[in-house]
Amino acid sequence: MKKIVINGPCRLEGEVEISGGKNAVVAILPATVMVRGKCVVENVPNISDVENILEILRYMGASVKKPDAKTLEIDCTDVTPCDVPYELTHRLRASYYFLGALLGRWKDATVAMPGGCSIGLRPIDQHIKGFESLGAKVQFERGNVHASCTSLVGSHVYFDQVSVGATINTMIAACLANGMTIMENVAKEPHIVDVANFLNSMGANISGAGTDVIKVRGVTELCGGSYAVIPDQIEAGTFMVAAAATRGDVTVKNVIPKHLECISRKLTEMNIKVVEFDDYVRVIGSGLIESTTVKTMPYPGFPTDMHPQMAVLMALADGTSRVTETIWESRFKYVDELRKLGVNISVSGNVVMIEGGAQLLGAPIRSCDLRAGAAMIIAGLVASGTTSIEEVEYIERGYENIIEKFRALGANILKVEEY
Ligand code: EPZ
Repeated sequence: MKKIVINGPCRLEGEVEISGGKNAVVAILPATVMVRGKCVVENVPNISDVENILEILRYMGASVKKPDAKTLEIDCTDVTPCDVPYELTHRLRASYYFLGALLGRWKDATVAMPGGCSIGLRPIDQHIKGFESLGAKVQFERGNVHASCTSLVGSHVYFDQVSVGATINTMIAACLANGMTIMENVAKEPHIVDVANFLNSMGANISGAGTDVIKVRGVTELCGGSYAVIPDQIEAGTFMVAAAATRGDVTVKNVIPKHLECISRKLTEMNIKVVEFDDYVRVIGSGLIESTTVKTMPYPGFPTDMHPQMAVLMALADGTSRVTETIWESRFKYVDELRKLGVNISVSGNVVMIEGGAQLLGAPIRSCDLRAGAAMIIAGLVASGTTSIEEVEYIERGYENIIEKFRALGANILKVEEY
């Protein structure tokens, strides 16, 4: 079994380069199924979610080449319609994007229900609403989702719930529908815009991504092309919080500061110095960390994927802090793990209360899920003594070379295999 072992405390110093955005690339890669021609996708992070999607693409008959560590050449011209089995889809949440891509290209899609971090029920009713609004009939049979129609027709859909996945999935399918699709009450995350920009670079006609209304004028075919994935907003935020928690001085490079505004503003409220430049930010920790309150919201609000990491920083603050989680009903597994390190933290409903001034002491803990795992690394960097973290696989799903990146910043951290 793999474990991460950290000896703390430490003070992070130096520079870290942020990788391509996980939640953008896990939608862009399935969308290549709709393209007749070669898609060159650059700035791809080396993470297991990407590897799992590439396995699905190869299963479908796509040509997948890696001219270098961060670039993929994917050609789905010769891909034939096929069902995507549970063995491949259960490894990650984003496998559901193959529904929109297969429906878009062949008007027929059968994909086993997705997997992903157990942070909540994670329904897909809004995805289905999007597909049905385009004229598809959607059925569940033996754990598969089957969507089909004779033709996709542009429509006007108003989502009942702001959903990143449903927004992207519907946008993908609508690219090859007949006529105009207007989507309202949509998600506005940076990765929504990135997927729209990728599709447009392949010949789609999408406008309004990143606003409350997305318009998609259907085209008959998507051609090949090249596209570079945006930097990962949450990876950047994770390293910013780690710099603040260790009272360090870290330059976080290859970022889009605009995407980090909600995180930067919250850190500034906590008396952390954040200096923004064109494509990097510098975070300088301070002796006195101010307590604060956070409410997780869809973009441009504070991202739920930064909730556990922020809770660690709040444990070091002066006074009591509060996090209200509005997106995932099971985002709280990290709480028990922080308690093992000596944090005074409690949950009531969807509100987490964190007493500041914690003196964290190293202990054996678990990741529980992707972002909780990243938070446990930050906690281990701050704790005195040895912290060992199990379930490393969760972390490897979404953070490229995270051990090497933290070690380069001065952390005493390594990954060990225990038999
Ligand atoms: C994406 O998940 C991200 N995953 C999540 O990041 C992120 O937490 C989430 O968006 C919110 O930003 C990927 O992009 C692969 P949603 P997604 O649909 O699309 C409800 C990470 O750590 N909902 O925006 O699954 C849902 O229950 C991961 O990188 C419905 O009710 O999230 C939730 O309460 C974890 N019906 C809310 O909407 C639906 O059909 C937001 O979910 C869909 C969602």
